[in-house]
Amino acid sequence: MALTTTLSERIARISFSRTMEVAGKADQLRRQGEDVVDLGVGEPDFPTPDHIKEAAYEAIRSDFTRYTPAAGIPELRQAVCERHAADFGTSYSPAQCLITAGGKHAVYNFVETLVNPGDEVIIPAPYWVTYRDAVLLAGGQPVILPTDASDGFALRASAVQKRLSPRSRMLILNFPNNPSGALLNREEAARLVELAVEAGFWILADECYAQLVYDGKPFSIASSPGASRCVLVAGSLSKAYAMTGWRIGYGLGPETVIQGCIRLQSHSTSNPNSIAQKAALAALRGPQDCVAAMLSEYRRRRDYVVGRLRAMPGITVHEPGGAFYAFPKIAALLGHKGVSTSADFAERLLNEMRVACVPGEAFGVEGHVRLSFAASRQELERGLDRFEEFVARLWR
Ligand SMILES: Cc1ncc(COP(=O)(O)O)c(C=O)c1O
Repeated sequence: MALTTTLSERIARISFSRTMEVAGKADQLRRQGEDVVDLGVGEPDFPTPDHIKEAAYEAIRSDFTRYTPAAGIPELRQAVCERHAADFGTSYSPAQCLITAGGKHAVYNFVETLVNPGDEVIIPAPYWVTYRDAVLLAGGQPVILPTDASDGFALRASAVQKRLSPRSRMLILNFPNNPSGALLNREEAARLVELAVEAGFWILADECYAQLVYDGKPFSIASSPGASRCVLVAGSLSKAYAMTGWRIGYGLGPETVIQGCIRLQSHSTSNPNSIAQKAALAALRGPQDCVAAMLSEYRRRRDYVVGRLRAMPGITVHEPGGAFYAFPKIAALLGHKGVSTSADFAERLLNEMRVACVPGEAFGVEGHVRLSFAASRQELERGLDRFEEFVARLWR
């Protein structure tokens, strides 16, 4: 029989990450010598703090360069539990923790481990692009639950309840939210946990931005009463410690589920990178003032970006409570000068003004675009000047 290049049904169900696609386009233009302001990319512009890099140099010098246990080195599993306890008041033990190749990999592991074909997974929109595809890859059925821009994209337990069915297996939460910056209110979190225990579904909480909260104390749904029975945490060092390229994240949850993830990991990545694990240990056990310093710079940038956007005609924006994205509503501009969707808007902004942003459609919400403020103040100024000019052109 002839060899065909037909991809497996699983891979045919998923698409390339839209945010990575935007990053690729911006990079291509830059390589051609174009002056692109990249507000599309979701990664800190800060270098990884020196004490973290030192730990990696030391790992190499001392030949810590071999395979590690599939679940990660025991001292890092312990350090993750201790940091989560210190930051959020939880009480996980190392057996309830595994180290992964980034937070994305923790999400993937949990979904693969728990979702069967035909299971429903509720995903509030706006959502981070990967959730849908991770669920589709597992053969699950994403059930998209829209939240309301006029309510600051808040998630209500009552709205989740209405979407439950006998096939509901999981709810994926992401607060602070990428792309909206919305936070989860503690009372709603407690109600969601009650609902999950009662109806029997898992809550997968993606806490990738949990340390990056501007107002009030960071909070984890894993600290709600009853959470140990139904909450899974996917965490990451990428954003809080400016470590995107190191690829270290973690999963926290009941030991049986964690064991399932470890089994999967033992046949996929084998283990997270040994050198990066030592660096992660230094990040979690070392001084935390680097996180606070980056956070206060992000806060200044947030205030600047929100102020600039609100001064533009036809644009409204909810103030992000965490993470480093603004998600302005551009719906009033659609229908002007041939721009009819957020994807048209983003494409024209890149082609005509050389500013990269991500269309809201990629997050399941039309009429918005996502601008990252993990860029220097100078780049933000240049990018927003061009954005403002583009908005003015559409109105002219
Ligand atoms: C909401 C959310 N979760 C998870 C991740 C993945 O982070 P990483 O795999 O680098 O830890 C990202 C990265 O952009 C994200 O925005």
